[in-house]
Amino acid sequence: MKVVAVLYKAGQAAKDQPRLLGCVENELGLRQWLEGQGHTFVVTDSKEGADSVLDRELVDAEVIITTPFHPGYISRERIARAKNLKLLVTAGVGSDHIDLTAANERKITVAEVTGSNVVSVAEHVVMTILTLVRNFVPAHEQVMAGGWDVADVAKDSYDVEGKVVATIGVGRIGQRVLRRLKAFDPAEMLYYDYQALPADVEAELGARRVESLDDMLAKADIVTVNCPLHESTRGLIDKKLLAKFKKGAWLVNTARGAICVEDDVAAALADGTLRGYGGDVWFPQPAPADHPWRTMRNRFGAGNAMTPHISGTSIDAQVRYAEGTKAIIASYLAGDKSYRPQDLIVIDGHYATRAYGSDKK
Ligand code: NAI
Repeated sequence: MKVVAVLYKAGQAAKDQPRLLGCVENELGLRQWLEGQGHTFVVTDSKEGADSVLDRELVDAEVIITTPFHPGYISRERIARAKNLKLLVTAGVGSDHIDLTAANERKITVAEVTGSNVVSVAEHVVMTILTLVRNFVPAHEQVMAGGWDVADVAKDSYDVEGKVVATIGVGRIGQRVLRRLKAFDPAEMLYYDYQALPADVEAELGARRVESLDDMLAKADIVTVNCPLHESTRGLIDKKLLAKFKKGAWLVNTARGAICVEDDVAAALADGTLRGYGGDVWFPQPAPADHPWRTMRNRFGAGNAMTPHISGTSIDAQVRYAEGTKAIIASYLAGDKSYRPQDLIVIDGHYATRAYGSDKK
């Protein structure tokens, strides 16, 4: 069996940190295990263009491993050329870089390591909210540059306490964000989701469901996006929806870049519709050098808390999603469908019903 993995290149960082498992050099820790069973394992970061290693190797691959961090985009066209393909594993959470309809038509199984990095992302969301609300970035840049101007930063620095917080999506990550933010005594915590939280979770969090997204956005000082990218969330946050936001809100998106329209977000930041925007997800990835989110600013020349796609790939998370990837391949090899049900995205030509993420960890 041939397994192909598309991971990012780490260079010296892979030597500095052997537990940086999600990179080309450290190979999710899978080589010995796979080769010991007689399988072929190809690992590459080359994923774009017809000459990419991914394009060359997928032709006879049975299993392809990709990640959301350096996504090998598994398009319908690539699936058509991967004649032996049976299993697509996302080492992480979020399989929107795969054409799931095309996978279903071929009865290819798509699985991801559900829950593996949800704490990591929730912590990043809380950090980004604080970074924006406290106006941390310009303060830090000021001292690094040898300056000292308290007023210039304090003029747009606030407390999270007393603000209205809202999440679009309240699954595993959304709930963890709310649980952590509760400690900051916000005025109110609201959520918008197809599914209501169980009553005990809602009571514990002190969160309230809002049926209309527009109503929620009109009230919220801080909005965090925690829903998957799918056909009804692609481009959801565009100029029209941004006009419904409370003026001067902070928006944090660690879900997927394509949920927001990039130029509309940059324009909203510049004209004061948004006071700040932060997150770690972009489209495409790696983000081009001229992506507007790299340099966008608010009227004070601040309000940008973007990072590369790092929130779900802390060292702790990498250990978990590497183990989870191995477990998924082991289930595939066993041929006994012993997958964790919550890991399955599509199987046997159908979308799997994922276990609802209301666990309280
Ligand atoms: P989950 O499946 O536990 O929760 C997703 C929630 O979003 C569910 O409650 C679902 O009902 C809700 N939802 C779906 N469509 C919606 C819509 N149109 N409006 C409102 N709510 C909607 O997923 P989890 O683990 O919380 O992850 C959420 C997303 O976060 C992933 O799909 C992925 O895109 C992203 N993610 C990002 C990471 C990063 O490193 N930046 C790492 C892990 C996940």
